[in-house]
Amino acid sequence: MAGALKVAVVGIGQRGLQHLKSIVSLQVDEEVQLVALADPFEENLAETKIQGYVPDYKRGSTQLFTDVDEMVDTAKPDAVWFVMPPNQHRGEIERTVAKGVHIFAEKPQSLFYDEIKSQADAIDKAGVASVVGFQKRYDPWYTAIHDYMADKQLASAMAVSLGSVEGHSAKHSPTERQGGPKNRVWTANRAWSGTSMVEAGIHQTDQIRYWVSDDVEWVQAAYVDRPEDLQETQGDNPTAYTVVYGFKRGGIANIIFTKPARSYYNEKIEYIHTPEAHIAFEDDLAVYSYGGSDYPPASRPTREQLRTVLAEGPETNPMGPNSTMEISRQFARSISESDPSLRRNSFRSSMNSLAAVLAANVSDSLGGIRIDIDEFENSDKFAEYRQRPEGL
Ligand SMILES: NC(=O)c1ccc[n+]([C@@H]2O[C@H](COP(=O)([O-])OP(=O)(O)OC[C@H]3O[C@@H](n4cnc5c(N)ncnc54)[C@H](O)[C@@H]3O)[C@@H](O)[C@H]2O)c1
Repeated sequence: MAGALKVAVVGIGQRGLQHLKSIVSLQVDEEVQLVALADPFEENLAETKIQGYVPDYKRGSTQLFTDVDEMVDTAKPDAVWFVMPPNQHRGEIERTVAKGVHIFAEKPQSLFYDEIKSQADAIDKAGVASVVGFQKRYDPWYTAIHDYMADKQLASAMAVSLGSVEGHSAKHSPTERQGGPKNRVWTANRAWSGTSMVEAGIHQTDQIRYWVSDDVEWVQAAYVDRPEDLQETQGDNPTAYTVVYGFKRGGIANIIFTKPARSYYNEKIEYIHTPEAHIAFEDDLAVYSYGGSDYPPASRPTREQLRTVLAEGPETNPMGPNSTMEISRQFARSISESDPSLRRNSFRSSMNSLAAVLAANVSDSLGGIRIDIDEFENSDKFAEYRQRPEGL
């Protein structure tokens, strides 16, 4: 491709600003040229506001729009980063790809499976490149697990996220003007976030899919609702989530989320094991497995005999700025160099992660029944759960 890739961003909020930081830095390296920004709320396009988050941003020749279609027609970007709230999509992705524009879609791509199918079909029909914002796939430790597991069988994996309910809004959508929560904390609101399992748990879901290069086959979930008298101030998302997944090639995974108010506590617990090895997140990423041909050995092996370092520590934040930069860099390069192998997912391949978390909600609402993901995606039985509710 001649010259830097012309890129644009839609939705200049919390995540859009993080992407902008990566894009501004990629622009210095002449990998991309930022041609346009779009946001329906002009205040989010102001140079001084953006510079509060992205100090190196200078508007320069970047064009600003409040309408996505006008942006695509006027600025003619090669690729667009869609970073808007997931319940706000109204066919923008479909119309953009029909003009031959490549797509970076933030997760969750929408909250309604029928709309995701429509987006995926439009992307495939247009034949454009796509990636979904699962930056953990670019994390060195998670990639080491993915490589280690390439020829192994999953027994079980666990991703526990002990957290607290979102209290102060870091968000930039003026939801009080959009029929949403008055306090802008849309991640604590079910109609906007689809529950924390959808908004946040989709990352853990996708990370385990990446670890094992597999798809979720079924899901069972049970949540604990937030007490009604606390919902006015803390949002109406559940306070606890337990989700079990079965994978197509075997093995199970557990995802646990806690979201109490007032605790301000954060901890992450993760592991994965095969029938003959356990991977532990320690100071280094380590695998414990006895490799001797005399198994079982006469005496218990020492830690040193069992432990192999898969990746050296310290662990970087798999959600953080490094992997966020890397997913954008590789996406841009994959287009400039016509090399799809640089993309670690596509819109289509990411649909299983979204179907799994949407089906987890349905499982909980139906008393914890096991839901087959293929049935959730295709059967009439679940049609009502795939649609955007009237009035939203
Ligand atoms: N991958 C990650 O780690 C990660 C992190 C945070 C957020 N996200 C995702 O990014 C998306 C945006 O979240 P956020 O945290 O930036 O929210 P936000 O509310 O801070 O920002 C959203 C931006 O989109 C704009 N917007 C609102 N309605 C719009 C519309 N109809 N069309 C275009 N723009 C619109 C808002 O004005 C705002 O500037 C969500 O899907 C969220 O789940 C991903």
